Amino acid sequence: MLDERIARFVPPGVDPATLPRSFALVEPLSAAGSIPQQWPVVPAFERRPDGWTAIIGIDEGTSLYGTGEVAGPLLRNGFVTDVWAKQPFRIEEDGRPVQNYDARSKSLYQAHPWVLAVRSDGTAFGVLADTTYRLRIELSAGIRLSCSKPFPIIVVDGESPQDVARQLGALTGRIELPPRWTLGYHQCRFSYHPDARVRELAREFRVRRVPCDALWVDIHYMDRYKVFTFDPEGFPNPKGTNDHLHELGFQSVWILDPAVKVEPGYSVYEEGAAGGHFLCDAGGREYHAWTWTGDAAFPDYTRPETRAWWKRLTIEFLQAGMDGLWVDLNEPSPILPLGAELPEDLRHIGGDDIEPGTHAQYHNVYGMLMAKATNEAMRMARPGRRPFVLTRSSYLGGQRWAATWTGDNVSNWQHLHWSVPMVLNLGLSAQPVSGPDIGGFTGTPSPELFARWIGVGALLPFCRTHNALIGDQEPWSFGPHVEEISKVALARRYRLLPYLYTLFHQASVTGLPIVRPLFYADPKDPSLRSEDHAFLLGPDVMVQPQLLERGTHDFPMPSGHWRSFSLVGEDPEHERAQPVLRLRPGAILPTGPGGQTTEEAFAGSRTLLVSLDETGRASGQLYEDAGDGFEYRDGDYLCTTYEAELKEDVLEVRIAEQEGARERPSRTLHLEVLTDHGVLHAWGRDGEAVVLPIDPTLQW
Ligand code: GLC
Repeated sequence: MLDERIARFVPPGVDPATLPRSFALVEPLSAAGSIPQQWPVVPAFERRPDGWTAIIGIDEGTSLYGTGEVAGPLLRNGFVTDVWAKQPFRIEEDGRPVQNYDARSKSLYQAHPWVLAVRSDGTAFGVLADTTYRLRIELSAGIRLSCSKPFPIIVVDGESPQDVARQLGALTGRIELPPRWTLGYHQCRFSYHPDARVRELAREFRVRRVPCDALWVDIHYMDRYKVFTFDPEGFPNPKGTNDHLHELGFQSVWILDPAVKVEPGYSVYEEGAAGGHFLCDAGGREYHAWTWTGDAAFPDYTRPETRAWWKRLTIEFLQAGMDGLWVDLNEPSPILPLGAELPEDLRHIGGDDIEPGTHAQYHNVYGMLMAKATNEAMRMARPGRRPFVLTRSSYLGGQRWAATWTGDNVSNWQHLHWSVPMVLNLGLSAQPVSGPDIGGFTGTPSPELFARWIGVGALLPFCRTHNALIGDQEPWSFGPHVEEISKVALARRYRLLPYLYTLFHQASVTGLPIVRPLFYADPKDPSLRSEDHAFLLGPDVMVQPQLLERGTHDFPMPSGHWRSFSLVGEDPEHERAQPVLRLRPGAILPTGPGGQTTEEAFAGSRTLLVSLDETGRASGQLYEDAGDGFEYRDGDYLCTTYEAELKEDVLEVRIAEQEGARERPSRTLHLEVLTDHGVLHAWGRDGEAVVLPIDPTLQW
């Protein structure tokens, strides 16, 4: 028993001192003792000839979630997940091998040895198998966790799933507040190439007035896919490319792969080989596998010298003025033969607090260690700016260093739907910042599919369109109608940004997810437990997207009168591509003016959407700061709690509380009060009470 609500169990007969260090936990759990009798969840360990199994019984009516990045429904009861970071590979029904996933894929790119259990009474617990080795999670009869090595189990007990999420955040760390521009819309392609194409794309966004903050540069910028190089013809002046993007109000994110081409004369390879930075086999020979760039070697990120080398290269690379970095294929994955993985007996050298070990031990943390080193390099290169790293592979706790996306999805309706439960289960596994490749990575979506995808994608934490080589996938590639739908979807996102940024801030402090399953609204209500079309954006906004190709999904509703609202004059209930948005009774939703960039969207006035509860009250929070830099840690932020109260014939909206030393901007405050008979408006100044006369005969 370590804390009132957290207990760690070690298999009987195993000396805790012999267990490897934890990679998930921020601080090792060290207290020792016995558990009190009333402690609710005690795993039973079984020693098998091939390893250990921990069994945790569950009561009827218990719903299971988490297990990280998994395709398929939100509710995980009955599923098997292999915690093993893997570029998925499968054989299609027609016999074609493909490198993407479906609901049968037991492993995806990330590794989260974590299960959340919500009991029928709404209380919850979580189970963390604190190992980096391959782990099988079986959720058919209770929770069964199996591994070839002994592993400790950490049980977190909570009054609610939210309570468990907070404790998981405290144990495994929370996100750092990212730069504010990363909350905008991102456009990516494998690949925009050459430089002139990137510039043309930037211009086109501005001419068409489609909101966008970041353009992404995929592997074709490299000289024959060699990491830390530039194609001398396609990208002769990367600094010039970035400067141009900055002039047009864009940020840029460039990709880095871990694999280093084996090529005499290529300085990165030569330095790496001379410095002993690459993984070797048991006989000490440098290991090579086939990647985009041909035969390649793989840095050993467990080794401090190798991390320092990687950081130095990254810092030099960043001199060209990139604003963010995208680390990919870091499961790590060879490209050929399809489905190949690195041998588990490769040697990791380790150093400092990392023991030497095999790839079987460190495979699952390879991506996280790469992301961490890359994040630290960004911080060193630009000390006054917040780093932004997107990683494909990660491990429980990796949210501290990088955001993520759901990998190489497919342009079909099934994958559109999975975008929601995948992001939700990542959020329930401590990673709040993720999103799908909007429109799907493999294949080309129909206009309607793209329209629906951008409609829902605009309401997920990380909002990026990305696709593979074939077919254009810009918001205007599907004709004027879909371009208009995309503009509405993004205009909604940009108006919601003040609220979204507040949610990012809350995630960075509490560990709570940004998008949340509907059952968060009432964990006792069994009808909400398996809903994975609708979701909650923070505590206050319900999102109801139509994700089916045909037919209409019927959404279960938590109790209370969640009123629908519109943000940009859209019909709140009748546009199939735009999810219906509903506000929790008792909530005040802070929104901004929207715009073409996040810069514009955080300037100007604020509009508070108010939905009173049955007692005639509402409240809501708005967090703001400079949007980049770290001064917020020294008090340069403003966190305002607004409250509304209905008093006979007036509604008063005022500041209930404010925190932080940042000056309140001088700005207009616009109120939109939702009623069943339309929206009531009032205007005032932020910082002063705003009073709206109410017709006492009004039926809410
Ligand atoms: C991988 C990534 C994909 C990227 C491609 C080329 O498939 O998942 O997003 O575009 O590699 O770098």
